[in-house]
Amino acid sequence: MTVRPLTLEDMPQVMELERDLFGADAWSERAMRDYLGASGSYFVVDAVGSVDAVGSVDAVGTAHTAGLVDAVCPVDAALPRDDHAGTPALVTGYGGIQCLYSTAEVITLGVRRNQQRSGIGQSLMNHLLDHARETGADEVLLEVATTNRAALTLYESLGFHRIGLRRGYYQGDGGDAFTMQRSLT
Ligand SMILES: CC(C)(COP(=O)(O)OP(=O)(O)OC[C@H]1O[C@@H](n2cnc3c(N)ncnc32)[C@H](O)[C@@H]1OP(=O)(O)O)[C@@H](O)C(=O)NCCC(=O)NCCS
Repeated sequence: MTVRPLTLEDMPQVMELERDLFGADAWSERAMRDYLGASGSYFVVDAVGSVDAVGSVDAVGTAHTAGLVDAVCPVDAALPRDDHAGTPALVTGYGGIQCLYSTAEVITLGVRRNQQRSGIGQSLMNHLLDHARETGADEVLLEVATTNRAALTLYESLGFHRIGLRRGYYQGDGGDAFTMQRSLT
């Protein structure tokens, strides 16, 4: 796993993943870019940085994922480049947090469908928590759908607790969200 700060070259893949994972509740590209430029924002991606790696993901992935890769990487010249390897990068997950004063808030977190349950979400969250701690935040807040078993289990395993319920929080299906909090002190 290679977690690194998100670059603008990652954005097409990140937006594809955001729309695929969150549907009607996905952040728009404009909102995401606003967050990227906002004070206290920090975004990371988990990326596999080689052509072979892209092939191996395709090999274990679904037709949908193969199509996704084609869609965001239609020609070689358009492929995002991993700074370290100098080879095409496939974004397997991404996350963002905003750290303002003593409270940090998770903006988004997502892992490519065929890469889920391999530790990427946990790794991304740990990077975001480390960053929040380094900025001096005392606590981290997030919202998560009450029906999102995977995310709830992940967050609880990382020490988050439910502190509130926001009814009709999600625009897409009108679903409820738990507000979760984790202390960093
Ligand atoms: C939630 C999400 C980010 C988790 O990422 P992930 O890389 O699959 O999670 P990890 O592999 O790091 O899992 C870490 C732990 O979380 C829990 N977990 C993750 N997915 C789970 C699932 N589907 N069911 C139950 N527990 C799950 C487990 O405790 C897991 O540890 P284990 O595999 O040793 O049992 C991913 O499922 C996802 O992108 N979902 C769609 C987008 C989303 O809901 N984002 C969160 C919005 S608040």
